[in-house]
Amino acid sequence: MRVGFVGWRGMVGSVLMERMLAENDFADIEPVFFTTSNVGGQGPAIGKDIPALKDARDIKQLATLDAIVSCQGGDYTKSVFADLRASGWNGYWIDAASSLRMSKDAIIVLDPVNQNVIKDGLTNGVKNFIGGNCTVSLMLMGLGGLFKEDLIEWVSAMTYQAASGAGAQNMRELISQMGSLRDAVAPELADPASAILDIDRKIADAMRSGEFPTDQFGHPLAGSLLPFIDTQLDNGQSREEWKGQAETNKILGRSDSPIAIDGTCVRIGAMRCHSQALTIKLKQDVPLTEVESILSEANEWAKFVPNDRDITLRELTPTKVTGTLSVPVGRLRKMNMGPEYLNAFTVGDQLLWGAAEPLRRMLRILIE
Ligand code: HSE
Repeated sequence: MRVGFVGWRGMVGSVLMERMLAENDFADIEPVFFTTSNVGGQGPAIGKDIPALKDARDIKQLATLDAIVSCQGGDYTKSVFADLRASGWNGYWIDAASSLRMSKDAIIVLDPVNQNVIKDGLTNGVKNFIGGNCTVSLMLMGLGGLFKEDLIEWVSAMTYQAASGAGAQNMRELISQMGSLRDAVAPELADPASAILDIDRKIADAMRSGEFPTDQFGHPLAGSLLPFIDTQLDNGQSREEWKGQAETNKILGRSDSPIAIDGTCVRIGAMRCHSQALTIKLKQDVPLTEVESILSEANEWAKFVPNDRDITLRELTPTKVTGTLSVPVGRLRKMNMGPEYLNAFTVGDQLLWGAAEPLRRMLRILIE
């Protein structure tokens, strides 16, 4: 199988390359690497010989491939996909960008949750397999069991989303902002006798000053938060919030009888793990012990964390989860509203299960 890779040098692409190397995926394919800026240059070191970089906009070259994996972003997809299909190409298009996600002829891939939808799609000749929104994929990796058992009436998801979801430059800016804050009060911090309200005032002044580094986010994130992610829709939702219901139901193959999902999406100062506080209305009163076993048996990555303070603060944080495929789910308890109302909290790496891993696994499904 000849597989083309576009956007392998970016953040999601680099995570994909790391995972493919770790799983020895390149052994089973003939990889061809593409570029938008360095045609003829050298591709990544993957432990075997590969041709020089080819032009990612050359439709004829792209059309020689059995499958293309793109982490190049939505603008690239928009600029080549239609022409490539129009040229008669009938290969598999695997994409991290959202452009094609909601198309009728595309499936959103998250095989531990929707392997049946993917298999049916392959049988029916579907050729476009698109990675889901990171927040949606991570919620489904954590809560997949409850969806599978059809126990959920609705979900409200309040998110705590990391800087990486906004891009590599945003991660750098978050750290620069943190550094600026520290620098603004370094002498006061070194002096245990300094007044905390003076420190606080200087920090607020620093965040509000024109000097604060905000080119990427447009606003201070360090020491603050940003309660709007992506663009604004006419109904008052952000696009990120809209995706919750639209993509979840599409992933589950139930867009015609959708489960209601809504909430507020918030950017916080974490690096690459998205967290979510969930209020789940169950269809019936399911005992907590049963909920626990349904969640932990759903897939090998969802990990039940007992609702104990010490264990929670150790296991259910971005710091613990970052760089791993584990998706812990904890803070499980029935809420004051009634026995059908379940509280939960989940954390997941936005670049792994939220972006690269479902694409890598889709490619494996095609190979096997
Ligand atoms: N839209 C997400 C975010 C990342 O901004 O965090 C990509 O799914």
